[in-house]
Amino acid sequence: MQDQPSPTADQAPELFTWEFATDPYPAYAWLRENSPVHWTKLPSGVEAWLVTRYEDARQALADQRLSKNPDRHDVRPDEESAHDRSNKLANVKKKTGIPGERKAELMTHLLNIDPPDHTRLRRLVSKAFTPRRVAEFTPRVQELTDHLIDRFAEKGEADLIHEFAFPLPIYAICEMLGVPREDQDDFRDWAGMMIRHGGGPRGGVARSVKQMRTYLGELIHRKRDDLGNDLISDLIRASDHGDHLTEAEATAMAFILLFAGFETTVNLIGNGVHSLFMNPGERERLQSSLAAGERGLLETGVEELLRYDGPVELATWRFATEPLTLGGQSVAAGDPVLVVLAAADRDPARFAEPDTLDLSRTDNQHLGYGHGIHYCLGAPLARLEGQAALATLLTRLPDLELAVPPEELRWRGGLIMRGLRTLPVRFTPRNI
Ligand code: HEM
Repeated sequence: MQDQPSPTADQAPELFTWEFATDPYPAYAWLRENSPVHWTKLPSGVEAWLVTRYEDARQALADQRLSKNPDRHDVRPDEESAHDRSNKLANVKKKTGIPGERKAELMTHLLNIDPPDHTRLRRLVSKAFTPRRVAEFTPRVQELTDHLIDRFAEKGEADLIHEFAFPLPIYAICEMLGVPREDQDDFRDWAGMMIRHGGGPRGGVARSVKQMRTYLGELIHRKRDDLGNDLISDLIRASDHGDHLTEAEATAMAFILLFAGFETTVNLIGNGVHSLFMNPGERERLQSSLAAGERGLLETGVEELLRYDGPVELATWRFATEPLTLGGQSVAAGDPVLVVLAAADRDPARFAEPDTLDLSRTDNQHLGYGHGIHYCLGAPLARLEGQAALATLLTRLPDLELAVPPEELRWRGGLIMRGLRTLPVRFTPRNI
């Protein structure tokens, strides 16, 4: 809770409007400059600190005093009654979807837990989700990418979000997990419901989450008797000093892999293609280097696209377990803290010409995959998918262009993710 508002904080630009969703970067520049750890009311009504400078963001992401559990702090009897505090907490939990001490099984996953539980689960899953497994998957990702492009190449137009960026990661992670092909379209439907309606625990979304949980639970149960060469089987096999994942933990793990790896990758592709459209010189540079059979610019380019306009605008919720100071600002025990990755990654104190897209940027330790113990587990898979998607699109459909004026594009207004609702494109139709 704010005790010392910064002198200029009340002049802060309006956040979370449509204009902000379209281009949040000017507002983030103002915050970085004038109120780098900024207390604000979110559209949900929850109040939280927004951390916008790179160094503060990195420090916050690595700070063990910032917990994923809203319950892990002492009540301050001097400032408010335990009853008020508990009401406020219940509201925060409801609005953020964080279960705290209440064990909502599916939500008790890596992104919502602290050490030592986090350390144990992350160690177990890292044994299954290895760089080698991802590397083995490279040819299949290429096949999936080509197959999706085949489906619209003859039309000369497409909505790149729905026909390409959306199905690619869902099919990829389903295959990696070992979901049989005949069931993968169900996942596509459930995931579609979650992405369209923002992932909150309501109505159709709640039904989709439930269907996914039931399905994953049954699949894990079946695989116990018939282990194969897939990630779920490896999760079941994984053990650490005799310690195995329970069935509930394996289900939550499969769910978070799907959930964390899906909308993020959709938006890496969508935002990435959009940034290339808006920066034709860089796009041409990439296309020429791909035509020459080089991959260097593609690899640095995908990292730069993550920095420049990445899919995860804000890192997930964190809560101060004790009073602390962040960027010179006092943060009280129990306060929610949101690290604004999109703002940190445009901080001129860290990146030269941060508002310029430079696909060959090499000094690029961006925070697009987070930092610290919750650093993205799926980064190697995301890189693989992002590189395959961009390289294949630009090579197979070289005259790909936006089919509507840029100002007609609509951005989703969610809190954590940044992405386009649709991305209509046109190109010379290709025979397959
Ligand atoms: C471009 C795509 C992706 C981006 C930008 C991204 C970004 C992130 C970020 C920023 C975090 C940390 C959040 C925080 O600390 O609050 C994270 C965590 C995580 N990501 Fe990703 N991610 C991507 C793709 C994937 C994929 C493909 C998978 C798996 C299939 C995945 C699985 C996870 C998991 C399991 C965590 C939680 C790790 C932990 O808490 O220990 N992500 N990701």
